Amino acid sequence: MQKKSKKSFTKGFTNFRFLLSKSVYGDIIFISIIKGNLVMAKKTKIITFSNQKGGVGKTTTCINLAAYLASDGKDVLVIDMDPQGNASSGLGFETRKAKKSLYNVLCGSMSIAEAMFQTEIPSLKLLPSSMDLAGAEIELAQVVIGRERVLSEKLAEIDDKFDYIMIDCPPSLGLLTVNALTASNSVLVPIQCEYYALEGLSQMMNTIRLVKKFLNPTIEVEGVVLTLYDGRAKLSTQVADEIVKFFGDKVFETKIPRNIRLAEAPSYGKPIVLYDKRCSGAKAYCELKDEFLKKIK
Ligand SMILES: Nc1ncnc2c1ncn2[C@@H]1O[C@H](COP(=O)(O)OP(=O)(O)OP(=O)(O)O)[C@@H](O)[C@H]1O
Ligand SMILES: [Mg+2]
Repeated sequence: MQKKSKKSFTKGFTNFRFLLSKSVYGDIIFISIIKGNLVMAKKTKIITFSNQKGGVGKTTTCINLAAYLASDGKDVLVIDMDPQGNASSGLGFETRKAKKSLYNVLCGSMSIAEAMFQTEIPSLKLLPSSMDLAGAEIELAQVVIGRERVLSEKLAEIDDKFDYIMIDCPPSLGLLTVNALTASNSVLVPIQCEYYALEGLSQMMNTIRLVKKFLNPTIEVEGVVLTLYDGRAKLSTQVADEIVKFFGDKVFETKIPRNIRLAEAPSYGKPIVLYDKRCSGAKAYCELKDEFLKKIK
């Protein structure tokens, strides 16, 4: 995406260089004049990782895709919308000692910039979760007007600073997930290749449809990622075929294999690119990043 074409207009403007960038939608998204004053914002793509089924690889896909994009030089923010805090601990943040988290942001007591955590990868930031976030869902439910738009409004503070904002959701379709969907351009659905994979997906697609109708008309399904895939198991391949029948070309060709290194990495607080970039799981997420960038061009 964002293929940058640099044009230097040196004639008569020796001090100026215009950087023209194309957004994922093809329009010019920012023009900066080096040594001049005008710097317009770049356009951020906000992606929610959601599937109300638990343990299907939402967090693993969110943090590893984010880490590979950041390793490629993109500015990325991961928002941990799940009170379990797995994306936070997987990116090296100790949720138990947390004094600043997304909870403080949603309550209005802190800005996103204040609550942000710098991960080991320079261009990868994290807005961490904390246990308090479980209470946020109940508190949000008491807000009478605009409770689905709280995150969206907060993101307006920062949405020109990142190429991507990736939101990791809990395994439910409650208000935290609805807030994430309302704030997003698209939703990416990780699906585990197992027997009950498609169960509950129609409920989720219905939630996305309702969000599109009433809250966020431009949201799209970015794609479906098949996770915990075992190419030797007949069940995995059969389920993968079913998912392709259901979602068509929304399904990414890159499949994420079951790989023990991917399961180990979070206990060291590292994404796979820092933990073991030669393992099969790392190679798959690196390929997914390439396919993702090609797809959204
Ligand atoms: N490809 C994989 N190979 C091996 N283990 C994996 C893989 N993907 C995820 N895991 C492990 O499976 C478990 C569930 O993964 P993950 O936490 O990413 O799922 P989730 O959908 O975010 O779960 P939850 O619904 O609880 O938030 C974790 O222990 C994770 O380390
Ligand atoms: Mg998770």
